[in-house]
Order: sequence, then structure tokens, then C-alpha cells
Amino acid sequence: MSDRRDFMGMALGGFTALGGIGALMAMKKTWDPLPSVKAAGFTTLDLKDYKEGELVTEKWRGKPIFVLKQTKEMMAKATENDKKRLIEVDGGHYMVCVGLCTHLGCIPGYRPDTQDFLCACHGGMYDATAEVTKAPPPRGLDIPPFKLNGTKIALGVTGPEYEKMLADGTTLRV
Ligand code: FES
Repeated sequence: MSDRRDFMGMALGGFTALGGIGALMAMKKTWDPLPSVKAAGFTTLDLKDYKEGELVTEKWRGKPIFVLKQTKEMMAKATENDKKRLIEVDGGHYMVCVGLCTHLGCIPGYRPDTQDFLCACHGGMYDATAEVTKAPPPRGLDIPPFKLNGTKIALGVTGPEYEKMLADGTTLRV
């Protein structure tokens, strides 16, 4: 009889332990971000796919991201300070910025004719490198954290080129 009780006790203990592990695994599953959330943290773009002078709006963490490969004309107009905002890949220069006005967060519109951005909310303006040219925005459009790998750029990951931009005040951390 006592053997049977021991067996029952062990069996019950085993079930309890298994149940506990199962519950822990279920809890871990609940805590882990969903695959879609994980994927939303990063956006990878291949800069060789963009054409000079054509603004493309991508998305990263629900925010619009402006990508504008600079034309020769834009590069000729850019000051040394403006050029610090550009990402150089394979001989091309790219503006990659969060497309939200640094004043109150409206989405500035690109004007291909004048190659600049106008924020319709309060008239703020930015040049082709997304540096501010007319207040009230306090600074140029923010540059998202990025890391380069050949012609690819991963947004949401910090690489040395982005660290340099933070260190010299070219952008704020977003
Ligand atoms: S939100 Fe862009 S100028 Fe005010």
C-alpha cells in the first residue's frame, strides 16, 4: 500500500513539475514580443534601388522615413554642414530621415521643383538634405539609428556612421 502511495506521490509530483514547466513556457511566450513586433523594430533598405532626385517614403516603427538620393545639383548646393547629414554609399549620397517635422510633428511635403520640403502646418522649410532653412522647426529632420552593410542600410540598429552623427551633433537620438 505504501509503495502504491509512493508511486502516486511521485507521479503527482512529476505532473506538478511538468505543469510548472508548461506554465513557465506559456508565460515566456506571453512576454516574448510577437514576430511582427520584432520585425517592426528594424527596417532594411537597399540604397542601390533608389533613383537620384526621387523622394521615397519608407516606414520604420510606424514612422515615415524619407529617402532622397542627392542629385549633382543638390550636392553642389549643399554646405559642408549639410553634407554631414548625408549617408555615402557606393559613391552616392543619401538623405535618410524621419519624415516628421521637428516643430510639432507634421509630415513635411517634398517639392520636386524647388528640391526642398515645406511643412504646411506652420510654414517650416527644409533643404534637400533635410536641414532646416526656415523656422519654426528648431533643427533638421532627425536621422534614425542606422547601420550600413554594403549598399544595405538597417534602420533601428546603431552603426559607427550614426554614432559619429550623434557625437558631432548632426542629429539627435530618436
Ligand atoms: S509642425 Fe512643421 S512647422 Fe510646425
